[in-house]
Amino acid sequence: MKCRKCGDVAVLELRRHNAAFCAPDFLEFFRNQVREAVRKHRMFGRDERVLVAVSGGKDSLALWDVLLGEGYQTTGLYLDLGIFDYSVESRAKCEAFAAARGAPLLVVPVAEAVGAPVPVIQAVTRRPPCSGCGLSKRYLMNRAALEHGMPVVATGHNLDDEAATLFGSVMHWQTDALPRQSPALPSTHPKLVRRVKPLYRLSERETAAYAFLRGIDYIVEECPFAEGATSIAHKEILNRMEDASPGAKHNFLFGFLDKARAAFERAEAVALNECARCGQVTTGTVCAFCKLADQVKRAT
Ligand code: AMP
Ligand code: FES
Ligand code: ZN
Repeated sequence: MKCRKCGDVAVLELRRHNAAFCAPDFLEFFRNQVREAVRKHRMFGRDERVLVAVSGGKDSLALWDVLLGEGYQTTGLYLDLGIFDYSVESRAKCEAFAAARGAPLLVVPVAEAVGAPVPVIQAVTRRPPCSGCGLSKRYLMNRAALEHGMPVVATGHNLDDEAATLFGSVMHWQTDALPRQSPALPSTHPKLVRRVKPLYRLSERETAAYAFLRGIDYIVEECPFAEGATSIAHKEILNRMEDASPGAKHNFLFGFLDKARAAFERAEAVALNECARCGQVTTGTVCAFCKLADQVKRAT
């Protein structure tokens, strides 16, 4: 197997691109995909500070690494979910990454913001842990960006994540979720920052290869609550389709973005209010995060 660019020995074959690359040319291919994502969706400019949400996993640390290398102004944000050893270790990975590069990192403990860590939130709400966790993450990312005057949050969602989310939404015909699935969500309210996913063109295998070749030390374990999650089952199904027909995931996601997404956009915009308690954006009077914090407070 030879590198498509230089003819040297290839280290990685990318079947969906019908190509193989040596290490330096793969790294350049990876960076080019991020550049293309940022350019195509006008994600952020060099004059803006980007809040990069890092979990300690390969995707978000690979993303931060690329953006630092490209010279963007970035600040990391780690949300400490309080999920036992998993959180202790993932926080340490983020702190070590930031310290080695002299990059600023904000750490926000979910327990301080909500009143309890994710495992307690799960017990109180009696809903899947990922629901209270996901709600808190989205809320705290936006709040941290607003508090620090940053106009945009970048997450490490990759092609596999996005294809699996799309698959889940289509399986249940969640037509209100479909228009929100996008590599770049604009700010629709002064208290809502932009959200972008610069890795949406890159697969999980590609981000793992990038992290490995760049010597990034990341947490390999998944969150212990992720076991048995439907998103994992959806990823397995899509991987089987990808094996049989390379490019299947890409075609599924990109076909949706290019041809179908617009059809699900609602004609009338949803009215956004400011939460009567915390001032962040909500479609009701009190936001879902404040309601969750109340529920936790009553129960603990
Ligand atoms: P996940 O939902 O765990 O697949 O994570 C998707 C993306 O959300 C990651 O790539 C990160 O950008 C962000 N993220 C997940 N967990 C955290 C965390 N604890 N702190 C900050 N960002 C996170
Ligand atoms: Fe939120 Fe696992 S990361 S429950
Ligand atoms: Zn609120």
